[in-house]
Amino acid sequence: MKRLVLTRPDDWHVHLRDGKIMWDVLPDTAHRFVRAIVMPNLTPPITSVELARMYRERILFSIPRLSRFTPLMTLYLTDNTSVNEVRRAKNTDFIYAFKYYPAGSTTNSDSGVTDLRHIGNVLAEMEKQEIPLLLHGEVVDRNIDIYDREAIFIDRHLCSLIKDYPGLKIVFEHITTKYAADFVWESSDKIASTITAHHLLLNRNDLFSGGIRPHHYCLPILKREEHRVALVKAATSGNRKFFLGTDSAPHYQQNKESACGCAGIYTAHAAIELYAEVFDKAGAIHNLEPFASFNGPDFYGLPRNQDYLTLEKQIWTVPEFFSVGEERVIPFRAGETVAWKIVDNE
Ligand code: DOR
Ligand code: ZN
Repeated sequence: MKRLVLTRPDDWHVHLRDGKIMWDVLPDTAHRFVRAIVMPNLTPPITSVELARMYRERILFSIPRLSRFTPLMTLYLTDNTSVNEVRRAKNTDFIYAFKYYPAGSTTNSDSGVTDLRHIGNVLAEMEKQEIPLLLHGEVVDRNIDIYDREAIFIDRHLCSLIKDYPGLKIVFEHITTKYAADFVWESSDKIASTITAHHLLLNRNDLFSGGIRPHHYCLPILKREEHRVALVKAATSGNRKFFLGTDSAPHYQQNKESACGCAGIYTAHAAIELYAEVFDKAGAIHNLEPFASFNGPDFYGLPRNQDYLTLEKQIWTVPEFFSVGEERVIPFRAGETVAWKIVDNE
């Protein structure tokens, strides 16, 4: 039996949502991860320190007893975010980053930034205060093919962003292409990237295998196999610029299985186990620990976790669904198996 003891990991990008769904999804994240960067795309979005403070309180109130889980809060950038908000955020001990959603790019992004030039002062202040910028790196131009949106974002926006704010720490989140992986690999130490388990495990054929698969629909959308292979290479390389960010994003079944289904894949129930599968298959299980537990805190300038988690190569079956009151959430691999299991979790 293969066994792996690793420093307990963190999730550097997760959607915990709010209200009753949060009560049901939070234990999955808190069971696996010590800390998580919490996305602010609620309705209304978390745009101020005050809203983040209250959201954090609600999360802390929902955490299972005895869990030491710590939410790391983020603020949602809008065209109206002020320089003062950046200073206020810096003065807290619970806000760790600002999140850029191009307006209209994904779930609850309508209040996002319409043009990066509108937040020039804010980015300059973040650079000065050393607060990282988290990027949903896609252009939203309707004339651009959905499969090209990430690559074009790099050419149109990311290159100039890096040039204009050379001291700004940037996390290019949930990258999906070889182009993005290569770009991050070759950039300065200020630029890092999260990679999801689903983008390491699926390619765009999985959106249509045997019929349309709404539970494989996420944004940025799954890409060709050659891109998945490049992401696996980056994640499993041990390179410190790449780290774990699940982008676990629960939606109710009826909102996914709909004429206009929501983007988002729920992976928190098996997150570290799915990454272990990928790393094992790539012959790089020894590099799971830097990816999952070291590179993230090192980039953010936070201490590495001190306790351990034990995984074993042991097959288990994912439930068909999770209930949230009357509603259901369909998890990734519903009714199918996962090859690794958590066996000890101090
Ligand atoms: O698939 C996604 N789901 N991508 C995002 O960027 C947002 C997320 C969500 O909030 O559902
Ligand atoms: Zn996300």
